[in-house]
Amino acid sequence: MPASASDRAATVGAVAGLLLAAGPCLAQDVAKGSDVFQSRCSQCHVLSGVGQGPSLIGVVGRRAAALPGYPYSDALKASGLTWTPANLDAFVQGPTNLVPGTAMRVVVSDPNDRRDLIAYLATLER
Ligand code: HEC
Repeated sequence: MPASASDRAATVGAVAGLLLAAGPCLAQDVAKGSDVFQSRCSQCHVLSGVGQGPSLIGVVGRRAAALPGYPYSDALKASGLTWTPANLDAFVQGPTNLVPGTAMRVVVSDPNDRRDLIAYLATLER
């Protein structure tokens, strides 16, 4: 079956191309996301110790308002959210739209900055 064999070859080629493209892109996103974090988030979300905001180490996949000892707002505690990449994106795009009454007020309006930031947050494993 020459037709399907070449289709398969084309598919394999396309997938390999995607994988090659994804590697360097992701590393770039993380580096840019680290810059966004340093300039926009780190003054409150410190990476060691307790800051004005809760620690964001391990935040991707964590339930909202889950860190023991941090005085979260009632609004965030009642949100029932889990910090999936999509929810983080919505939160940082408009915290008070997603969670009316939250004490987190910082907005990142550029979608590329948000994507890079979330790629970086995903590297902050416990
Ligand atoms: C001016 C201080 C401040 C800055 C800057 C700030 N935050 Fe926050 N952030 C907070 C506070 C305070 C809370 C707790 C909100 C609440 O309890 O409603 C919070 C909560 C959060 C949460 C929820 C964490 C959890 O444990 O549920 C996320 C996610 C978050 N911030 C992300 C970010 C990101 C990303 C940035 C940078 C773009 C950022 N924040 C910048 C103060 C800040």
